[in-house]
Amino acid sequence: MAPTPALQELTERISAISVSPTSKVLMEADRLRREGVDVVDFGAGEPDFPTPENIKRAAIAAIEANFTKYTPAGGIEELKRAICDRHRADYATAYTPRECVACVGGKHSIFNLMQALVGPGDEVVIPSPYWVTYKDVVNYAGGKCVFVETSEGEGFQLRASMVERALTPNTRMVVINSPSNPSGAVFHRDELERVFALCRDRGIWLMTDECYHRFLYDAQPFSLASLNGAKDTVLVAGSLSKTYSMTGWRIGFVLGPPAVIGAIVKLQSHSTSNPNSVAQKAAIEALCGPQESVGTMLAEYRRRRDYVVARLGQMPGVQIRTPEGAFYAYPNVSAAFRKGIGNSLEFSQELLSEEKVAVVPGEAFGTSDHIRISYATSIKELERGLDRLERFITSRLE
Ligand SMILES: Cc1ncc(COP(=O)(O)O)c(C=O)c1O
Repeated sequence: MAPTPALQELTERISAISVSPTSKVLMEADRLRREGVDVVDFGAGEPDFPTPENIKRAAIAAIEANFTKYTPAGGIEELKRAICDRHRADYATAYTPRECVACVGGKHSIFNLMQALVGPGDEVVIPSPYWVTYKDVVNYAGGKCVFVETSEGEGFQLRASMVERALTPNTRMVVINSPSNPSGAVFHRDELERVFALCRDRGIWLMTDECYHRFLYDAQPFSLASLNGAKDTVLVAGSLSKTYSMTGWRIGFVLGPPAVIGAIVKLQSHSTSNPNSVAQKAAIEALCGPQESVGTMLAEYRRRRDYVVARLGQMPGVQIRTPEGAFYAYPNVSAAFRKGIGNSLEFSQELLSEEKVAVVPGEAFGTSDHIRISYATSIKELERGLDRLERFITSRLE
């Protein structure tokens, strides 16, 4: 009989990463739902709106025109132009298609970018709380994460002085995600400009993940890529997933220097080949077509945010800051860490098992006093879930 390959033969790099804790919650909630349990799901970071009609029609037209074959690995020229044009319209930048690559979603863009630029010994500075994937893609690339803790009391704002303290001769990249998943914080422009200056002066890459850039409630739109001289320092990781409610279509992109773009295209050509051809055509329509749907979604997110913040604010012991962007609330629920609950992971597990509400524990994002509630779901669902959450918290405090 042939020997079975031993489990320890898995590579070191695959053992350096773990299953996304956000997917774990979703999987458990999904399992319960399949068993017929009435679960309220606040776990998914996914808009509940359908993809806008004009985008769907563009995809159908692409299929009917048999646009169903391989495309260039980095995406078709028309899409790259559309990405650059949209970024120019939004932020007055001046990228050209040679400075752009389309990838299979924003996550893939970040994965590719880290593989191209980060290697063993390289440090990547990441403000905490952070989106969980950064940690694993840096680890997978062999790099080392250096977390910079922001404080809840300061609204999870990042200050350039915090980044400066974390820099060493080994720092290869600083990651910015504003609006932030999970905190909803929008970093102040003057601090971001200082972070940029630090990176520029020391030859450190500055990656800005603009996944939620169109979902700002009050702040003025701003991209680090619009700063003078940004092109040599800033890498934009973008995604159409949330902006156009296109999570399943898988289109994201990177804007950056041609050498980095070329490296990503090379990697992509040996992994996914190209992003889905039909989705590329849909993405062109999303970027170049009417933008009203984005404003409509934002208005609805604002309504939901206000509802969630008001409800959480009334719950005993819960501390909540009003998110300034994205569609997540990140309340501190540590007052309810009693009766067998010691951290937000245990809190989330008990909440799911007792009240059938799925949230993501703060541990997934580097803090242990918080839970992430996605309000990309209807007010009716929010009401149902928050009623249950309130009952759960009240029962712990009795
Ligand atoms: C901060 C952040 N960046 C990037 C992404 C990537 O999104 P996608 O791969 O769906 O484009 C996500 C998705 O949740 C996110 O929250």
